[in-house]
Amino acid sequence: MTIKVYLSTAGRPLDPAEATISVFDRGFLYGDSVYETLRTAGGHFVEMERHLVRLRRSAAGIGLEIPYTDQEIAEATRATCDATGNPDCYVRVVVTRGTGELGLDPRHAGVPLLVVVAKELKLAPAELYERGISAHIVDVRKISRRSLDPTLKTGNYLNSIQALRQATDNAAEDAIMLSVDGAVAEGATSNVFMVKDGAILTPSLKTGLLSGITRALICELARADGREVAEVTIWPDDLRAADEVFLTSSVRGPIAVTKLDGAPVGQGRVGPVTQRLSALYSDYLGWVARGELDRAESAS
Ligand SMILES: Cc1ncc(COP(=O)(O)O)c(C=O)c1O
Repeated sequence: MTIKVYLSTAGRPLDPAEATISVFDRGFLYGDSVYETLRTAGGHFVEMERHLVRLRRSAAGIGLEIPYTDQEIAEATRATCDATGNPDCYVRVVVTRGTGELGLDPRHAGVPLLVVVAKELKLAPAELYERGISAHIVDVRKISRRSLDPTLKTGNYLNSIQALRQATDNAAEDAIMLSVDGAVAEGATSNVFMVKDGAILTPSLKTGLLSGITRALICELARADGREVAEVTIWPDDLRAADEVFLTSSVRGPIAVTKLDGAPVGQGRVGPVTQRLSALYSDYLGWVARGELDRAESAS
């Protein structure tokens, strides 16, 4: 597998062994960074513009001024993907607050560091999409918006790591996290949808969760298909009583949850709505791959 890493300090894609950063980098020391994970389809970035908008929003939310233009970030990302030679890439774009003296005060930070990691896109096996995954509603809750705002995609993922640990300790493949008030919020690195009596529901952004780009795409695709999607408060018992549950994220796309807390979801199979939305999402990736989407293309 070819991996390339762009560092703004080097100004070009490097081999991973060459791509070293300071131990005084604040992203390393404190998780003082923001990031995006995206993919390519047919070599084209999927929703690069939306990822760049969210990156900037996350940075603004922690008072990190990104000194790189969208074009510079997109070009660095393009160069890194091209350098891998992979037909399609998994891409991570990270901006840290830079290096500086030890100490929390962000005024000690130097120049923000841009890191782009590109590696071969490896999707979960088709078998997993066909059978769905198991998930566990974990005790580890999202933190309050008054603490670190969960709508920002920062380098602080310990909460999600703890959630995933608890899920795997309970023999589940993924975690579903609740808000501080106990409402269903999101997966460890995904958004949650449920289907009940034909209605498609997803936790409202007010619950305190990342406004997923795939979540938005799925809502748009479903609505264009004549279906309603409601953004509401979902309680754990609603999710347990759902006919279908699925998770969404940029790399995995939509994936069904067919087992929740050890019990089957609905019929315990990938349901018809999840199948339909997954097919629409595949069509959408096909458009991106063929360069038929202006929006996806403009930044690639
Ligand atoms: C906490 C969290 N929620 C949701 C998502 C899904 O977001 P997207 O669809 O933009 O990848 C992610 C993606 O990494 C995430 O980390």
